[in-house]
Amino acid sequence: MPRKKSDKASQMADSLETSVKTLEETENTSSNSDSNPINGETSAKALKEQIDDKPKKKRKSVPKRIIHIVLDAGRSRIKVVGIYDSEQTEVIVLDSLVCETDYTPNGEIGSFTLGKANPNALKGKKASELTPEEKENKKDIVSHWVVGTNARYQSKPFVSMTEGDEHKIKYFPVLALGAIASLPDLYELSTGVNEKNRSLTVRLTTLSLANPYTLKQSLQDCKWLKIDGIKYRINFGAASDFAGFPEGYGGALYFKALKNEAKVFLVFDIGFGTATITEYSNLGKLPKRGMCNPNGGGGIAGLIREFAEVVAQVDSSKSIKPSQLKEILEGSQYENEKVIAIAPDGRDIGKQLELAIGHWIKDSPVTFALEKLAIMGRRSPVVCCGGGFAIPPVRQMVVQELKRVGVPEENLIVPDSPGLVALSEMKRLYNVGDKDEQQQAA
Ligand SMILES: Nc1ncnc2c1ncn2[C@@H]1O[C@H](COP(=O)(O)OP(=O)(O)OP(=O)(O)O)[C@@H](O)[C@H]1O
Ligand SMILES: [Mg+2]
Repeated sequence: MPRKKSDKASQMADSLETSVKTLEETENTSSNSDSNPINGETSAKALKEQIDDKPKKKRKSVPKRIIHIVLDAGRSRIKVVGIYDSEQTEVIVLDSLVCETDYTPNGEIGSFTLGKANPNALKGKKASELTPEEKENKKDIVSHWVVGTNARYQSKPFVSMTEGDEHKIKYFPVLALGAIASLPDLYELSTGVNEKNRSLTVRLTTLSLANPYTLKQSLQDCKWLKIDGIKYRINFGAASDFAGFPEGYGGALYFKALKNEAKVFLVFDIGFGTATITEYSNLGKLPKRGMCNPNGGGGIAGLIREFAEVVAQVDSSKSIKPSQLKEILEGSQYENEKVIAIAPDGRDIGKQLELAIGHWIKDSPVTFALEKLAIMGRRSPVVCCGGGFAIPPVRQMVVQELKRVGVPEENLIVPDSPGLVALSEMKRLYNVGDKDEQQQAA
C-alpha cells in the first residue's frame, strides 16, 4: 500500500531516500572511475540507518477485552450470562425460538445478521487470479436471524427447539449468537477504534449434554455479527478456550458452596424435555460429574400434555390451547395447601392442575426419575433445580412425593431461584477455579 506522505516525518524520510539514491548513484559512478568507495558506502549506510530510525506513525491499538459467556441453550429457554472484569450480568432468558428473516430489523432484542466464511472459498490465490465463480465463493455467506420471543412476530415460520430432538444442536450457533446479540451492553464490551466496525473476543462456556467440541466446531465458520448497523468481528479463540460443562453444573457449584460434608450428591433438574439426575463427587475443590441419567420425556412438556387431557375431560366445552395451558401452569401458585391456576376466562382450574401433576408424577417418564431418587436420595443430598422447580405447585408436589417415599427432608435442597441456579452459580468457577481446573471438570 502506498504510504501517506502528508506528515513531516514522511517528507523527511522521502528526502533522505532521495539523498541515498543520489549517493548510491554517485558511489557507482565514482567506483567506476576508481575513486575511493569506502566513504561513499559509509555515508549511504548511515543515511539508510537514519531512514530506519525515522519516526514511524503510531498505530492506535486497543487491548482485547475478553468476555466469558456462559450459555445454557435449553429446549424451551436459552439462559445466558456474561462475565467480564470480575462482574456478572443478570441472567438473560430468551425463548428457544429462531426465525430466519429477509433483513435485520434494528432495535429488536435477539435480532442480528450473521456472516459465515464460505466453505468453498479458495485460499492462497491472489484476487486478480480468481475466476468470477471463485470470486463469488470468497464472499461471506450472509443470513438474518431473530432469536427469542420476537421470532414469533416476523411473519415468517419460526422454529422451536422443542420440535425436534436434534434442534438444540443443529441451531446451536444461531442460539449462541442470538444470546450474545441480546447482551444489553455489547457495544461497551467490544473493542476497536472505528465506531461501526468492532471486535468481540468471546470465551464460550456451555452447559449441555452435547459434546462441547461438536458445538465449538459448529461456531468455527461464524465470522461476524451485525447488530443495529454495527459490525462485530467475533473471535471465539482456540478450541482449548471453549469449555463445556454438564447441564445443571451451576447447581453442583451451589451445593459445593453450602459446605455440606456428603461425599456424593445429586442434582435433579426438571427442564422442559428432560428430568435429569446427575451424580457428583464432592471430594475435590470442584464437583466432578459421575453418572448422568436424562430421563427423556420427564420434563414440563409431559405435564402440559397431562394438563390438557385433564382439562379436556373435565370441561370439554371450553378448550384451552396448549400454549395457554403452559402460561397458566407458569403462573400457578400453591397457597394454603391448595393449587391455584387461573384460566383465561378467570376460572380457577387449580383442581385440574393438581390432578394433572398427580398423574404426571405417577405415570410418566418423570416417575422413573422419582423412583431412582427414592433409593439414591436416602443416601445422598439432592439439589432440586430447573424451571420445573420454579413452578410452586410442581415444586410442592414433587418434594412431597420424594418425602413420602422416604427421602429425608434434610436431603432435599431447593435453591431460591431453582430455574436459574444452574447458570447464575457458574460465576463461582470464575472466582475460585483456574482454567486447568475448569478443563478437568468438563
Ligand atoms: N420462573 C418460572 N416460573 C414459572 N415457570 C417457569 C419458570 N422458569 C421456568 N419455568 C417453566 O419450566 C419449564 C422448564 O424450564 P427450563 O428453563 O428448565 O427448561 P429448558 O432448560 O429450556 O429445558 P431442557 O433442560 O429440557 O432443555 C419452562 O418451559 C417453563 O414452563
Ligand atoms: Mg435445562
